[in-house]
Amino acid sequence: MGTSFVSERAMKIPESGVRVMFRIAQRLKDVVNLSLGEPDFETPPYIVAAAVRAMKEGYTHYTPNAGLIEFREAAAEKLSRENKIHADPETEIMATVGSMGALSLAMLTVVNPGEEVLVPSPGFASYEAQVLMAGGRPVSYRLIEEKEFQPDVEELSRLVTSRTKAILLNSPSNPTGSVLSERTIKEIAELAVEQNLIIISDEAYERILYDDAQHLSVASLPGMKDLTISVFSLSKTYAMTGWRIGYAVSSREIISEMTKLQEHLAAHPSSISQMAAVAALTGPDDYVETMVKEYAERRNLVMRELSRVPGLRCVKPMGAFYVFPNISDFGVSSRDFAMHLLKEAKVVVVPGTAFGRFGEGHIRISYSVSEENLLKALSRIGEALERVST
Ligand SMILES: Cc1ncc(COP(=O)(O)O)c(C=O)c1O
Repeated sequence: MGTSFVSERAMKIPESGVRVMFRIAQRLKDVVNLSLGEPDFETPPYIVAAAVRAMKEGYTHYTPNAGLIEFREAAAEKLSRENKIHADPETEIMATVGSMGALSLAMLTVVNPGEEVLVPSPGFASYEAQVLMAGGRPVSYRLIEEKEFQPDVEELSRLVTSRTKAILLNSPSNPTGSVLSERTIKEIAELAVEQNLIIISDEAYERILYDDAQHLSVASLPGMKDLTISVFSLSKTYAMTGWRIGYAVSSREIISEMTKLQEHLAAHPSSISQMAAVAALTGPDDYVETMVKEYAERRNLVMRELSRVPGLRCVKPMGAFYVFPNISDFGVSSRDFAMHLLKEAKVVVVPGTAFGRFGEGHIRISYSVSEENLLKALSRIGEALERVST
């Protein structure tokens, strides 16, 4: 056996728990997959038409590394209108390869080797991986189930050390579906200012909100725009996950450095996706509203069905398209629980530990599947769990 050529950096990154479940599920027949992290809707036709038009009009070449000015202007207008973030499209906004591209660039731009980034747990697994790739150290802060998965800002502040560089926020949250309250966001902004930390705010699910939930961008608070790297995506809002288009907003200095790095990583997101995104950001809103309405109905259905399963407890999600039930009454690890559901119910869910250490005792269910499949999966889950408890 020769020596491995794989770097220590690569080996430090664990395989995503979502992918692991997905791979196992692919080998089984008649499985309902509730592990998906993307909309099950099609990209709205007016966006697809704009992409076709862009190709015919010759938007098939390299673009500036920060993205086409048409895209940045459309994003600036949307940010000002919807997020109350007022940013200069020439210098303070850049197009990225999804929000994932923006998050990676943000970490590479602000984190020095050995510096710490506070990341939510349970939280999106890529945050930890991205901090590690930048040579930093992810430090988990707890989202508290009893507080509807808000963090305790006192507790968070006790994790700050002389090596802490940034706090990552994600609202609405994957995997909990929680939406950070205005109070929590303001307290975290105060903490960041006090401790001289930059906030990286992942707002990929900003439009997927239920009931009276409101989305507040931390960068809209007075003085916070330049102290935040705000990250947005077209993936979830417009069912455009495959188009790989998102954007980042921050100070002129940060955006200039992120753009410099993007030149050497991806150059820029696809020119065609950028033009499709212009149509999305400036177009009608009814597709988004219809999708959110459908998600809301499914959320209600999932909550109703899960409430009938003895032993499962579930905080009502206010955004995104996930629920994160507590399974600790069953006395098994979340991984064993998910494997049990896979084998006995033929339903794929993601163990909570795929979202960090504070995810233990939970599973993530995505309701980005048809109502029919949801009902089928939930009734199978109910039956499989009855067999466990009897
Ligand atoms: C919280 C969160 N942030 C970011 C992303 C990345 O999305 P994209 O790169 O498609 O914008 C995801 C995808 O699932 C996510 O759940």
